Amino acid sequence: MEVKTINQQLLTDVLNGLTHRPKYLESKYFYDDEGSRIFQQIMQMPEYYLTNSEYDIFDRKPEEILQWFSFGNNPVDIIELGAGDGFKTRVLLRHFMNKEADMRYMPVDISEEANRRLLAAAQKELPGLYIKPYTGDFFDVLPQIQMIDNRRKVFMFLGSSIGNFDQQDAVRFFKHIGQFMNKEDLLFTGFDMKKDPAIVLPAYDDPHGYTAAFNLNLLKRINRELDADFDVSAFKHYATYNPVSGEAKSYLISKKTQKVSIGVTDQTIHFDNWEPIFMEVSQKYDEDMIRKLANDSHFSLLHNVADEKHYFMNSLWRKNII
Ligand code: AVI
Repeated sequence: MEVKTINQQLLTDVLNGLTHRPKYLESKYFYDDEGSRIFQQIMQMPEYYLTNSEYDIFDRKPEEILQWFSFGNNPVDIIELGAGDGFKTRVLLRHFMNKEADMRYMPVDISEEANRRLLAAAQKELPGLYIKPYTGDFFDVLPQIQMIDNRRKVFMFLGSSIGNFDQQDAVRFFKHIGQFMNKEDLLFTGFDMKKDPAIVLPAYDDPHGYTAAFNLNLLKRINRELDADFDVSAFKHYATYNPVSGEAKSYLISKKTQKVSIGVTDQTIHFDNWEPIFMEVSQKYDEDMIRKLANDSHFSLLHNVADEKHYFMNSLWRKNII
């Protein structure tokens, strides 16, 4: 008989979320193998403007960015948190290499597989680049990175990943990163900006059904890993955008009154007709919100750079020394 090891953290978080009112699930659990595949499809669809917007910044403004990172031609280590496939970053790195920047690249990702693929792609596309991937949770890996030596480090957190944190968690996250930064180090983050709701909403409610599949895949994951019996066809994906707060939110809504059992415990979860599960926030920012987030997290904003359409912004911060 196959003995399954249970992901205890997943179990705790799922039970906390599904017994809470209103119900919620944590979007960090979207990214199992299938979820990561679906996310790649999302990033390639025309409605998902975020990827191209950040790419546009890296493609058009690399000189400016390099100047900020290296203050002339000082050595710099680029630490990319949650590097994923690292595709956009390579555009920037290629430019830095063409300028003969004294640079090393250290991508950090929770997935060994993602790091292996990124290493192979970087070695092929950017021969001669010093690259050392780190696999693990950011906060387990950062103490090692802080100790490497005293070259300036630029910590990059791209692709609007910060948008998936609520405001309090975003502040907590940056304060925590700040603890591993030395005086000269910098933080470079990607923010998706507030814009026409008719542009935002289709990115999260696409006609191809990828975003719906991305959300529903978490129910499949819970079925597989926690022996649950979600009937995935009895839930529908629903996305909203609030132009005042800038929050794009996704829900899965129960299409009927139903019970779901979580097999690895004896818990049964009751759903009312049309009861929602809150799945994810994708926060959109304006410049005041970015500045406030920097201040609240004990950083100073040094520079902002946007794409041509002003859909996306990369922001460079330095830690306040108290
Ligand atoms: C990873 N993150 C920035 C994506 C976003 O836009 O919030 C996740 C995503 N969810 C639905 N589509 C994409």
